Order: sequence, then structure tokens, then C-alpha cells
Amino acid sequence: MNDNETESTTRRRLLATVGTAGAASVAGCGFQAPQADDGSDAPAESPTAQVDGLERYPRVRVGSVDELSEGDVESFAYPLDGTENFLTRIPGEAWGGVGPEGGIVGFSGLCTHMGCSVQGQVSPEREVAGPCPCHYTTFDLSMGGLVVSGAATTDLPQIRLDVEDGDVYATGVDGLVYGRRNNLRDGTPVEAATEE
Ligand code: FES
Repeated sequence: MNDNETESTTRRRLLATVGTAGAASVAGCGFQAPQADDGSDAPAESPTAQVDGLERYPRVRVGSVDELSEGDVESFAYPLDGTENFLTRIPGEAWGGVGPEGGIVGFSGLCTHMGCSVQGQVSPEREVAGPCPCHYTTFDLSMGGLVVSGAATTDLPQIRLDVEDGDVYATGVDGLVYGRRNNLRDGTPVEAATEE
């Protein structure tokens, strides 16, 4: 055996020793992966498992074509409980609008500037939401929530809608709702009629 072989063998033994010690160290550090309640090795569900499991937008009934007259404004939560949105019917046809004249639209009720509610400033006749009571942003309801004027730089998130047998269903959200890192996380999902 020459010097090179001796050095190589020594290094391999040293690495093997370090590896074993490292594994023992991790095992002894007190960290334990969460376990299921039944004591099995299956990982336990996280406290937000219900929300984390919502990987797609649910399909939820939010109104009725016959019960929503032109000029009406109705509130609904979607896709999480407490997430305020409004459903309204404007005179003209809207981008993403549904119903016989394509004038039924849904939007987030939270201004995209700093999150003030614009629910009380919805004006279906003028086809706008606003001016926002905080810094006067106005959004165009016929053009996907486009910012018309004011401090906001992001359009109002629009709720995707669908009509089936006269009922209006929410099926998704275009745009990030103010204050959310993800529209589907950090809350309890509203009860879904059927999943898409
Ligand atoms: S919060 Fe609406 S314009 Fe500032």
C-alpha cells in the first residue's frame, strides 16, 4: 500500500465517522416530525390542513338571475368566509358579465389601494365602484374593475361567474384580493356547491 492509498482510506473512514455522528446528532436534537393522532408514522395534518387542501376555486352559488334586478347590489363571501365581495347588475354588457344581457358582475369589495371597503360606494347605474371613501379611487365595473381615477394602481379583483338554471355561481377570482398572499389560503373556505 502506497502513501496515496493510505491517505485516501483515512479520508473515507473520517467521512464515514462524521456522517454517523451527524445522523446521531440530528436524532438526538429533540426534533420530532408531527405524528398522526392514531400514533402511526403518517404525518399529522397541519392546523391549516383544511385550507391548504383547497387547491382550486370552489363553485359556489351566490345569487339568482331572476332575483337580481338592474341596480341591485348584494354581498357575498367567496372563496373564504369573511372575504367580502359584491354582486351587481349594470345596464350595459360587462367584461366577464353573465346573465341575459351580460350585465351581472361580481367584484371584491376591498379597494386595492389600502383595503378600504367600496361595498357602500357601488353605483350600478354609473357602472362604477367608488370613489373609495379613503383615497377616492373609482373602478369601472364594465371593464374588469379597471382603475378610472384615484390612488390605487391595481384593478379591482373580479369574481368569475357562471349561470346555470338561472342560478349565478362564483367559480374563481381574477386578481389578488387586498391583504391576501393567496386568495385560497389563511381562512375557512365557504361551503361549495360542487367543485369545478
Ligand atoms: S384605500 Fe381606497 S383609495 Fe386608498
